[in-house]
Amino acid sequence: MILVLDFGSQYNQLITRRIRELGVYSELHSHKMSAEDIQKLNPNGIILSGGPNSVYADNSFRCDENLFDLDIPILGICYGMQLMTHHFGGKVERASQREYGKAVITIQGNPVLFNGLPDEQVVWMSHSDKVEEVPEGFRIDATNPSCPIAAISHEQKKLFGVQFHPEVRHSEHGNDLLKKFVFDVCKCEGNWTIENFIEMEIEKIREQVGDKKVLCALSGGVDSSVVAALIHKAIGDQLTCFFVDHGLLRKNEAESVMKTFRDRFQMNVIKVDAQDRFLNKLKGVTDPEQKRKIIGNEFIYVFRDEAEKLKEMDFLAQGTLYTDIIESGTDTAQTIKSHHNVGGLPEDMDFELIEPLNTLFKDEVRRLGLELGVPEEIVWRQPFPGPGLAIRILGEVTEEKLDILRESDAILREEIKHAGLDREIWQYFTVLPNIRSVGVMGDARTYDYTIGIRAVTSVDGMTSDWARIPYEVLERISTRIVNEVEHVNRIVYDITSKPPATIEWE
Ligand code: XMP
Repeated sequence: MILVLDFGSQYNQLITRRIRELGVYSELHSHKMSAEDIQKLNPNGIILSGGPNSVYADNSFRCDENLFDLDIPILGICYGMQLMTHHFGGKVERASQREYGKAVITIQGNPVLFNGLPDEQVVWMSHSDKVEEVPEGFRIDATNPSCPIAAISHEQKKLFGVQFHPEVRHSEHGNDLLKKFVFDVCKCEGNWTIENFIEMEIEKIREQVGDKKVLCALSGGVDSSVVAALIHKAIGDQLTCFFVDHGLLRKNEAESVMKTFRDRFQMNVIKVDAQDRFLNKLKGVTDPEQKRKIIGNEFIYVFRDEAEKLKEMDFLAQGTLYTDIIESGTDTAQTIKSHHNVGGLPEDMDFELIEPLNTLFKDEVRRLGLELGVPEEIVWRQPFPGPGLAIRILGEVTEEKLDILRESDAILREEIKHAGLDREIWQYFTVLPNIRSVGVMGDARTYDYTIGIRAVTSVDGMTSDWARIPYEVLERISTRIVNEVEHVNRIVYDITSKPPATIEWE
């Protein structure tokens, strides 16, 4: 196992990813982690990440300096290398200018981390401070005209530092360097796979739960589905799932979730039919924020009412992912967790949490899901917001509008899949703006609703671009919707990116 300590670099998650891609388990933790806790974790090696600070700044991120005496191999990247230099008595130069981009380094001698690699190689630099004098006992492994000390090492103590970023693809031999550190220096084995993750987790879940009972809120999304499948594999009928149908789901969604989990996996799934509760609360409400609040609160009330009926549930399972925890820096893990409670469940509920995916990235969760037999359509499901279709109907939510939206959305999904674009487009759905316009059908005048098509490409939903769906696909979608969905006579295509728009319309 390789421990990555986070000093705030934008690339810190990437380091963890790269190591896992080598088949070695890796975790990212706060730079504040004590040497004692590090020792308990017993990593084969430690990587100190880069970061925006200068080692001389008063409030710069530091680590527990005892970690340098643990006799565990350490690789410092960028700020991590400067921190190590500073600790061992070398000098770091405060730079006024940032060096950013590609650079060519020249290797000196035959250092372990560059063994067998070309003497000259392109690397990715992104730093302002740099090492000016190496500490006693260290040697210079690589140089560059504007950064003469580009890599250092103390092979006997197994300490290494690189000023560039080996985790970034632009560093052409970066991955080779990480491999050498992980395998040659740290002696990791490279046998970490999703299959042995399943075995390990099943054992852990059984140990944690014993003969007690676990409750899981199933939304039909990837994360909660995979959590449910994993826990079910571990403890079978000790798991009970709730599936709350708030009436704001897509066409056939509730049936498909029930079919998958109740029929195929033979899980205890309680379907809570709460459509009326939600629709009554939403009656007459037009403000988007108010809609969201009403739905969020109602979800909590429904969950609480149902959980009370069950009695003696000891654990609550959640599909919290690794990214959810480290999104805003590992120091703030505590606060972030509360965002990710299922539907914002109240803290006074008497459950212990069980979060078996909280060390995985999204694509790892998908692989895990497939390995556990979760169907592809769930594993590759596009994101769907908690408040559901309510935030895709502008203005008041009514049953009539929900039906129109569901039908049009189902056609869009069918056609996108048919065109083979369903993995390429990150999210695609229809919206029902509160617009009616004049049209002509047959020989008669119509005065009906407009449907908007929203389709975006994105990596994480934070920014997005509108998807360039081919005209002939758009044409088919448009023709089918106006022909097949009653009360729709006009289709428009949303061609705004985010920002300035958002992906959802409310
Ligand atoms: P926006 O509209 O903010 O959406 O650009 C970004 C991504 O987040 C999803 N989204 C939500 N997901 N609860 C969720 O679980 C919500 O309240 C919510 N609002 C937006 C949206 O579908 C998109 O993928």
